[in-house]
Amino acid sequence: MVKIKINNIYFEAPEGLTILDVAKSAGFNIPTLCHKDGLPHYSSCMVCIVKDNSTNGFIPSCSALVQEGMDIDISGEEVTSLRRKAIELLLAEHRAECEAPCKIVCPAGYNIPLMNRLLAAQDFEAAIKLSMSELNSAGIMCTKCPGYCENACRRKKVDMPVSIRNLQLFISQRIIPDNLFQDMAEQHHNNDIVIENGPKKGKLPKRFTSHIGRLEETELQEWLKECKGKVLRSREILNKNSAVGEAESCMHCDCRAADDCRLRDLAEEFSIKDPRGKLVNSPITKKINHNTGLIFENTKCIKCGLCVRLCEELKEEPALCFMHRGFVSIISEPLTEEFDNILKNRSKEVIAICPTGALSQMK
Ligand code: SF4
Ligand code: SF4
Ligand code: SF4
Ligand code: FES
Repeated sequence: MVKIKINNIYFEAPEGLTILDVAKSAGFNIPTLCHKDGLPHYSSCMVCIVKDNSTNGFIPSCSALVQEGMDIDISGEEVTSLRRKAIELLLAEHRAECEAPCKIVCPAGYNIPLMNRLLAAQDFEAAIKLSMSELNSAGIMCTKCPGYCENACRRKKVDMPVSIRNLQLFISQRIIPDNLFQDMAEQHHNNDIVIENGPKKGKLPKRFTSHIGRLEETELQEWLKECKGKVLRSREILNKNSAVGEAESCMHCDCRAADDCRLRDLAEEFSIKDPRGKLVNSPITKKINHNTGLIFENTKCIKCGLCVRLCEELKEEPALCFMHRGFVSIISEPLTEEFDNILKNRSKEVIAICPTGALSQMK
């Protein structure tokens, strides 16, 4: 056993444990990004940094083992400031957006990209459920809105905005009684009822949102490769096929991990603003495994290595690995494999361990 102090409280701990292990079992909270219990240490993010007052040194608590006489500060000003710097550095390289423009301007905050994904996947039941739950809580009908979402839709850059209100209307047809639907359809086509005073600011909870940073037009097209919609589309949604076709034209400008992102949570916890002038050291790419629906977006990756370590643990091959070294290192499929061939069986577990939206599932 070794005797150590954590935030001025004495503890006895078995040798071989990390500072994080001991602090956690004593009820302290230390933030982590690249650490997961049960996987080997990697210590790349430095978000878990603590100070050892006995040496005046700063150490990553997820890998530093407890030693006799340590006097650990886990929440002082210097420690907090270094953690904040570590998160800021990660964000400086993070070229992505948490929320899609259409959702940001929607007065009801409807999750339009998700609706489009569900429709494109022909999961009409899930699209209806989503629509019903959002309508219940926001109570704003798209028929009464002039279409701020369509005005902000990024698809305009390619040809024309996604016909979001028509898609909403298509879903409404399936959840709202026919007579009421007729009224709504008329209102929609007459477009004579609008929400007064524009989008209601402050309706959406204020959350950290990452900005894309210095994105070239060609990169935008590259990043949006997933978009496979037709260039010439009909604005009328007449049936399931045209609804699916229209939904497929959505470019998914949001991040699929927006509500489940450790990096975003920490940025909020430390009140960090996303830097506008981003570090650019690799082009934006999005890879899709067409067999499993696994998506990898390189500029959301913080190179924490959790996916690689989990792949090794799961012994599934071919899997994800590190490629290159230093600043230009990236997560990739092995050189000799196609992305379509990796992680045939366990991709869901690997997606779940990713602390950002770098790995996600198609739908
Ligand atoms: S990975 Fe996280 S921080 Fe990055 S865009 Fe997605 S939600 Fe935002
Ligand atoms: S392309 Fe899709 S996600 Fe992007 S703004 Fe338009 S509807 Fe929203
Ligand atoms: S893909 Fe995710 S889990 Fe893998 S290194 Fe990047 S951020 Fe970490
Ligand atoms: S969690 Fe310790 S260095 Fe990342």
